[in-house]
Amino acid sequence: MKDRKRYCKLCEPFQIGQLRLKNRVVKAPFCTVMADREGFVTESLISCYETIAKGGVGLSIIEGTVVDPLGISGCPRLAVYDDKYIDGLSRLVMAIHKYYCPAVLQLQHAGPAYSAGVYKNQKIVPQDNISPTAASTLTFSEMPMSERNPPRGLTIPEIKNIEIRFIQAAERARMAGFDGVELHAAHHYLLNSFLSRAWNRREDEYGGKIENRVRLVINIIHGIKQRIGLNFLVGVRINGIEYGSPKGLTVEETQEISLFLQNAGADYLSISGWGFGAYKNLCNLPEQILYPGPPEIDSKLLNKFKKPGIFVEVAEKIKSKVKVPVITVGRLNPKLGEQILKSRKADLIAFARSLIADPELPNKIASGNIEDIAPCTACLTCWDSLEKGDHLRCRINPVIGKEKAFKITPAAKKKQVMIVGCGPAGMESARVAAMRGHQVTLYDKGNKIGGLLHMAALIKGSDVEDLMPLVRYFKNQLIKTGVRVKLGTEVNQDLLKKEKPEVLILATGSKLTESINYRSRKLNILTSFDLHHMAKLPLRVFGVKILERLSKIWLPLGEKVLVIGGLMQGYEIAQFLVKRKRQVTIVELSDQLGTGLPNINRIRLLEWMSRKGVVIHCGNKYKELDNKGLELFIKDNNIEADTVLVASSPKKNDSLNDIKLDGTPEFYQVGDCKKPGLIADAIEEGLSVGIMI
Ligand SMILES: Cc1cc2nc3c(=O)[nH]c(=O)nc-3n(C[C@H](O)[C@H](O)[C@H](O)COP(=O)(O)O)c2cc1C
Ligand code: SF4
Repeated sequence: MKDRKRYCKLCEPFQIGQLRLKNRVVKAPFCTVMADREGFVTESLISCYETIAKGGVGLSIIEGTVVDPLGISGCPRLAVYDDKYIDGLSRLVMAIHKYYCPAVLQLQHAGPAYSAGVYKNQKIVPQDNISPTAASTLTFSEMPMSERNPPRGLTIPEIKNIEIRFIQAAERARMAGFDGVELHAAHHYLLNSFLSRAWNRREDEYGGKIENRVRLVINIIHGIKQRIGLNFLVGVRINGIEYGSPKGLTVEETQEISLFLQNAGADYLSISGWGFGAYKNLCNLPEQILYPGPPEIDSKLLNKFKKPGIFVEVAEKIKSKVKVPVITVGRLNPKLGEQILKSRKADLIAFARSLIADPELPNKIASGNIEDIAPCTACLTCWDSLEKGDHLRCRINPVIGKEKAFKITPAAKKKQVMIVGCGPAGMESARVAAMRGHQVTLYDKGNKIGGLLHMAALIKGSDVEDLMPLVRYFKNQLIKTGVRVKLGTEVNQDLLKKEKPEVLILATGSKLTESINYRSRKLNILTSFDLHHMAKLPLRVFGVKILERLSKIWLPLGEKVLVIGGLMQGYEIAQFLVKRKRQVTIVELSDQLGTGLPNINRIRLLEWMSRKGVVIHCGNKYKELDNKGLELFIKDNNIEADTVLVASSPKKNDSLNDIKLDGTPEFYQVGDCKKPGLIADAIEEGLSVGIMI
């Protein structure tokens, strides 16, 4: 249903300084890991930003770009610390400007976060004898966060040099054709280390009172305005609030900081946030504070975190003090964005992950086709790729930065396509094949589309990662693209003979690896597939959300559950059971605990399970199951259990291998039935085959 009017505020043009934006939707800066090892612009990077500009954003803020080689953080990043980068950057700007989208380059010096990190899964050793820098030298015990090495405080000449580095970077951005720069003074980077007392212990003109702490940022703004002129936009991104440290920035402080920045000539303020300790990663992944369960923090604060838009209130408080435009960000959606604008809590709405998942989001908002927006499921595949130093990867949108390779073009010859299996791989190949003009029929023996997504949604829960919007999205797209969906229909030789498709695609999902010897059937031994089977009817009757709640009241499993398999599947089932008050033990043959989960979630889940008393045995061989439980082969100790849940790795599914393909010219297998993997793998494979046929 077209719903243009509902988003009239988001679609309204807006003026920042001399710059006219066509709407109020902003692309938040996110590192794409698409620059090359030396920080140069690549074709992927241009393609990614061009796609986002084409998608209709009002303003594109380019990812954190390094102003000083000693200010790099994590993986290799886009760089602007030398004139040699100007050419590439100007090609980038031209690609964005083609779509009447202004482009602002975010300037970053990592400061305390200095590390050369990893690139394509390889550790790059930081330069010798270089420690991270910050406003002040800190010892381990003075550090507000344990994940980083203590920094060295900058001397006055070094501060002056940093000032020049930022100003020169802005000049290069101007030469490349950018409309402005954004100073990254948020998160835990160098400029923030001056603003926040959590890092800044200086007693000179850069420390103590706020007027001193903002001095470096103000000098940079003045320098840029003097050298480039008033028309060149200078925005500043700051933490509106910092949780988890007694010295972290308070809203009162950031209100005052904002006034200083405005008076110095900042053209806009982008309000993010930060968290230390239990609140870590709040800035990039705000909803993840609830993963895998709510942290033990003040209940009032927790309730605030349970709602989307956790930094909106702070942005509103800052907006009440300043006249320059204020950008808000953090797990927002179009509906919430519109409300925020209508109630004047902020002037511009920034999206990061929602635009990764669907760069067409602004155009879809403008045309009122909200149900066509591919939803970000908060899975953190993108974040994981960043941590591994890999090209940005999105579970929902495999195309990002690979637009050439995954171009969807009309098919030269329209074909009859039969797809078996309504999971993510089958649905994606059906959607894409139908978009290209093929006549597609999608079969599933079950009575719902989505395949195992429903069960996965039940196991994962919906507080953080939410899979059901993905099912709804595919449902709409299958209808819109004219895919015929035949549920409750088993594909066999007769049906194949009758339909005579020109292309057959199998997307029938995986099977379980049977790796243990069941000596006793007295124990309640189930596989994750049995669990799925048991949940099918209740899922159909109640749906995921209600069943999620009901299963917390009653679950047909014993009190002591032994989970066999500690990779992603086992880990997630264990987490589901612990939340249902089961005493859980995990046994995993390998030492690859939690493999398949984004690293950040794997670590958090492991910590959470150890707090919840889950016993984990890994690297053991188990002998067999007897009446009591599982006998471990090596340790010779028995694990008592009344239910055993086999969640070992699934394997490819060859159940339809007997079908004779005579008369079917093209045959493909996609997703888990070919090689078990993640939802991201299934969608990418579905897309690949969809564009190939
Ligand atoms: C993969 C990824 C990379 C990011 N890189 C940057 C960055 O370079 N600079 C920055 O200020 N914020 C960065 N962020 C934070 C985002 O700008 C944004 O504040 C955050 O993702 C919350 O918004 P969202 O819920 O719309 O994704 C990054 C976030 C993600 C997920
Ligand atoms: S769907 Fe997952 S990978 Fe894609 S943007 Fe959202 S969190 Fe990132």
